[in-house]
Amino acid sequence: MNIMVIGSGGREYAIGRALSQDAAVEKLYFAPGNGATPALGENVDIKEYDALAEFAKDQAIDLTIVGPEAPLTEGIVDVFKARELTIFGPSKAAAQLEGSKVYMKNFLAKYGIPTASYIETDHIDTAFKFIDTLGTPVVVKADGLCAGKGVIIAPTHDEAKKAASEMLSGKAFGEAGKKVIIEEFLDGYELSMFAICDGEDYILLPAAQDHKRLEDGDQGPNTGGMGAYAPTPLVNDEIYEKVKASVIRPTLDGMQAEGAPFEGVLFIGLMIVNGEPLTLEFNVRFGDPECEILMPLLATPASELFYKAATKQLDTLKVQFKDEYAVGVVMASRDYPYKSSEPAEIVVDEIVHTELAEHSHIAYAGVSEMDGKLFATGGRVLVCVGTGESIRQARDRAYALCGQVHFAGKKLRTDIAYQAL
Ligand SMILES: Nc1ncnc2c1ncn2[C@@H]1O[C@H](COP(=O)(O)OP(=O)(O)OP(=O)(O)O)[C@@H](O)[C@H]1O
Ligand SMILES: [Mg+2]
Repeated sequence: MNIMVIGSGGREYAIGRALSQDAAVEKLYFAPGNGATPALGENVDIKEYDALAEFAKDQAIDLTIVGPEAPLTEGIVDVFKARELTIFGPSKAAAQLEGSKVYMKNFLAKYGIPTASYIETDHIDTAFKFIDTLGTPVVVKADGLCAGKGVIIAPTHDEAKKAASEMLSGKAFGEAGKKVIIEEFLDGYELSMFAICDGEDYILLPAAQDHKRLEDGDQGPNTGGMGAYAPTPLVNDEIYEKVKASVIRPTLDGMQAEGAPFEGVLFIGLMIVNGEPLTLEFNVRFGDPECEILMPLLATPASELFYKAATKQLDTLKVQFKDEYAVGVVMASRDYPYKSSEPAEIVVDEIVHTELAEHSHIAYAGVSEMDGKLFATGGRVLVCVGTGESIRQARDRAYALCGQVHFAGKKLRTDIAYQAL
């Protein structure tokens, strides 16, 4: 099978790494890939979706897997399907579940899926009136995609009103903020759940926990995620069953009823409040860094999982996961998330311990290759992943690997997976 992965981050590297270990995969392409993906396959410097589809036809690519949300919400899947190319990911219509928070909240309300009480509006007066009815903090969300920066947890009504007016005026996020969601603050603990869907059936992956804040103890600004681990012991069978029955099934049935069957990764952002799962949001792609720790837990060949999902055959697949844990520690550049940093050469010491070599690896993200050397050029540079029979063993291996990786200004959290230890 010839496969193409769309994207350039650690998520796409992790999917590519799983496919590179899959005997069924012949040729592997990345569009555009990053500085390290040539070690796994061939980078393709084509951006335009029609040209990518043409390339896929010319190279007899059997399956394309889309990593990031932007091409999905822009309709890359529709372009490929129009040419009868097999592609894994939601249609433009189905990708609205992430592309528009207003669409997502109204969908949750219409199909009775538990979530925070909210209003959606493009009127400042309506926003202010609703804010005054809420306690504090108040949550204000921009409708469109804002790369994880479109949500304000406002400690006071005044700050909530300021956030709402800056969004609605277009000052904060342009068009993406011209409509807002105002919702109640939910007090509980957060989880990420991922369902691989084929429009009708789905496969639930082990639940993971991300670490959004920059510093230890969940301090500092929100980031794209500084580390993750799975499976999390914070989820028991009862919660899995509740999520299946009260979130995933009604979502797949609802999207069919809306005429936009959901195919791809349904990433459910959950807040568990008194044992009850409430949906904070949907994303329609793998999380990053969650993907880097979920792929190594897959025992079923990755090509089989993605191909059967893309061809509506998940009911024929009994997916297997390794009986292991995985922990991923993000290494970021000096000035992340405030601004970009000077490129810094990455040096990885030789891994002499076989145990460490066998149970840990690096998933490369914001890196570029220059003169045969790898340089840290992005905000989140790479993820050190450890696997093991316990979360503690997996974590210790991830941090041991971090000790072998060097670049100027590197920063990381030292408490990834703390909630499970
Ligand atoms: N109603 C709520 N109550 C409490 N915290 C919330 C609420 N909604 C959002 N949050 C917090 O804000 C974070 C970001 O919110 P959300 O996931 O909706 O936005 P996002 O920008 O789409 O995030 P992502 O980049 O993960 O897709 C959540 O991970 C959670 O920590
Ligand atoms: Mg989101």
